[in-house]
Amino acid sequence: MPIEEYDDCWLRYDAVADEDRLASYRTRCANVYASTGAPELGAVRDELRRGIEGLLGREPHLWQHPPRSADGFLAVGTPGEMEVVADSVDVDAVEALDDGGFHLRSVEWEGADCVVVTASTDRGLVYGTFHLLRHMALGRPIDDLDVSEEPTNAERIVNHWDNPFRRSVERGYAGQSIFDWERLPDLRERYFDYARLLASVGINGIVVNNVNTQIPDREGANEAMGELAGWQLLESRHLEKLTGLASAFRRYGIRTYLSVNFGAPEKVGGLDTSDPNDERVAEWWAAKADEVYDLVPDFGGFLVKADSEGQPGPYNYDADHVDGANVLARALEPYGGRVWWRAFVYGSHEDRAVQQYDTFEPLDSEFHDNVTVQVKNGPIDFQPREPVSPVFGQMPDTGLGLELQITGEYTGQHVHACYHVPMWKEVLEFDTDPDGHGRKVKELFTEEGTGLAGVGGPGEDPNWTGHYLAQANLYGYGRLAWDPDLETATITDEWVRQTFGGDPAVVETVTDILHDTWPAVIGYSTGGLGLMHMMYNGSARLENHYDPGPEEWPGYHGATEDGIGKDRNSNGNGYAQQYPDALAEMYDDPETCPRELLLFFHHLPWEHELDDGRTVVQTLYDNCYAGVEEAERLRERWRTLEGKVDDERHRHVAERFDEQVLQAGRWADALSEFFHDYSCVPDDEGRVPLDE
Ligand code: GCU
Repeated sequence: MPIEEYDDCWLRYDAVADEDRLASYRTRCANVYASTGAPELGAVRDELRRGIEGLLGREPHLWQHPPRSADGFLAVGTPGEMEVVADSVDVDAVEALDDGGFHLRSVEWEGADCVVVTASTDRGLVYGTFHLLRHMALGRPIDDLDVSEEPTNAERIVNHWDNPFRRSVERGYAGQSIFDWERLPDLRERYFDYARLLASVGINGIVVNNVNTQIPDREGANEAMGELAGWQLLESRHLEKLTGLASAFRRYGIRTYLSVNFGAPEKVGGLDTSDPNDERVAEWWAAKADEVYDLVPDFGGFLVKADSEGQPGPYNYDADHVDGANVLARALEPYGGRVWWRAFVYGSHEDRAVQQYDTFEPLDSEFHDNVTVQVKNGPIDFQPREPVSPVFGQMPDTGLGLELQITGEYTGQHVHACYHVPMWKEVLEFDTDPDGHGRKVKELFTEEGTGLAGVGGPGEDPNWTGHYLAQANLYGYGRLAWDPDLETATITDEWVRQTFGGDPAVVETVTDILHDTWPAVIGYSTGGLGLMHMMYNGSARLENHYDPGPEEWPGYHGATEDGIGKDRNSNGNGYAQQYPDALAEMYDDPETCPRELLLFFHHLPWEHELDDGRTVVQTLYDNCYAGVEEAERLRERWRTLEGKVDDERHRHVAERFDEQVLQAGRWADALSEFFHDYSCVPDDEGRVPLDE
C-alpha cells in the first residue's frame, strides 16, 4: 500500500512555520553527511530524507563526505567512522553508551554550523536520528544541543497476538494482521513503515505471532483447511518467512521473536513427548535453535504461553515452569537468545489473582540467566484498574518483564477512547515494598534481559490502531519503555504536537481529553471501587469483553444479596498477604485500603458507609454515571475542534465519541441495575433503570 493511503501517525513532519526556526534548521540540516554501511544507516538516511523534506520543505542534500561549501550540515555516524564526529564529541563517553544510547551535539566544525548525531551502535544512530527529528517536529531549537540518552530498559518489545491463518488478530481492533504470511518472505512497504513507528519510540523487539499458538477448540481444524497455525511457524518449511520480516525490522534495529508452542517437539518434531526433562526433547529444541539462527542470526528468542487457556506446558509432563523455561533457554543460549516465559498461568486456585505469585515466587533464582519471566501488570488480566502484581519486587533473583496491554481489550476496544499512559505510570511508580528495601516497579527492569513487553500491535486499518487517539497508546508505550521516568504530561504533549500540530487550543483540548479518558472508562465500566470482570465474555473464541455482563463473573466481583467485593484478604483467600508487610497491612484493612481498590480486596455490605458518608452502593451508582457524564463532556470537548483538526480525523473521532457515550450509558445502566437487583437499595438520584 503506498504511504499516502495510510496515516503517518506521529511521524507527520509538518512544515515548520516559525521563520527563524526554519532558517536555523536549514543551516544545520539541509545538508546531511551520514555514514553508510550497516542496514540501519539506510533507515537513517531514508528517515532524514523524509523528515527533513517535510519539516524544511525541501529534500536534504545527502553527502558521502563533509560538504565543504555548505554553511552547516548534519553529521550522523559513529566516532570511528567520521572525523567530524570524532573531533566534536567526547569519544570515550560516546563509546561507553549502552546499546541504543545516543549523543546529539551542536558544534562548529571547520567554520560550519553542524549538528552531530552519534552513538556507540548503529541502532543508537537510528534512535538519535528519530530524537533529532522529534525535537525539530516539536519546534525546539537545535543551535545549542548537548543531549545524551540511554534506554533505561534493555528490552522494549511489542507482542503481536496475530494469527497467521486468515490474518486475524486476537484482541486486535484495527483490522487484519499486517503480516501476510502467505506472501512472506516477500516484503510489504507497510512492514518498513511499521518498523519506523516502532523505532521512532525506541522499540527494539517484536514478537510476530500470537502467544496462543494453537486455538484450542479448533485444534486440527486450521491445518485441515490448509490454514497456518501459529505453532507451525516453527516448521522448517515456514521459517524462511521469518527471514523476510527479520530483514525489514533489522533495518530499524528491531529484533524478531517468535511465540512457540511448548508441545512443538511433538507437534513439529514428531517426537512422542515434549517433556522438558527428556534428553531427546532438549536435543530437539537445540537443533531447532541452530536452524533458526542459521536463517536469522540476530533472532531475539521465544515467547511462551504455557499451562494457560488451552496451551500445553510443563504440567502436562509433571514438570514445573523452571524445567519448561530452562530447556528452551539452554537451546537459545549459544546464540544469545532469550526465552520470555509468561507468568499468566492457570492452576489450582479458584481465584486467578492468587495463582501467579504462588506459582512463581517459590521458583525465584532457579531460572536460567536468559529467561525473562513476563508478568502482567496486575494479577488478573489487564482490567481497567488492578493492583500491581505481587510478583514484582518479590523475585529479586529472576529477570522479570512487565507485560502491559497496548490494545484496549477491556477499555473499549478502540471504539472508546482510553489513554493507557496514566495507568501505566501508576504501575511503574508503584513502590513494591514501601517499608523495606523495596523498589518501584520502574526500577526492576534495568538489568540486561529485563524489560517491558507491550501487547497488541497495529493492524491493517489505514490509521493503524482503529481509533486515531489509540495511536497515543503505542507512542506512550514506547516512550515509557525507553524512559519510565517520563511524565505522562510530557509524553502526551509530544504526541499531540507531532500528531495534530502546535495550535495551542488543539494541544490543550486533546491533552485534556486524553488525560480524562481512563477515569471515565473506569467509572462507567467498573463503578470505580476496584470491581472488575464486569464484562460479557462471549463464547469460545468469539470472545467479546466489550459489552457489559456483570452477572457472568460472580467469582471475580463477589456480588451477593449482602454485599459486593471479594475477600482477597486475611479473612478470605489471603491474596493481600502475598505482598510485603506494609502493603499487606494496608490492603487488609478496609479503612486503609485505597478506595479505588476497596472491593478488589474486601467484600462489604451494600450499605457500608465510606469516609465521605456515602454508602458503597450509592458510590457505585454515582461513579458509573459520573463516567457517562465525563464521556459526554469529552465528546463536547472534541466537537470544539471542528475546523481545527482536519475533517477526516475530526469526523472519525467524533463518531467514535458518539458511540462511546452511547455505550457508556449502557454500561452504567447495566451495572447499576445489577447492583440494584442484588442490593435492593434505590439510587438517591433515581437514575437506575428498574424493571417494572
Ligand atoms: C486474556 C485474553 C486472551 C489472551 C490471554 C493471554 O485472557 O482475553 O485473549 O489470550 O489474556 O494473555 O494469554
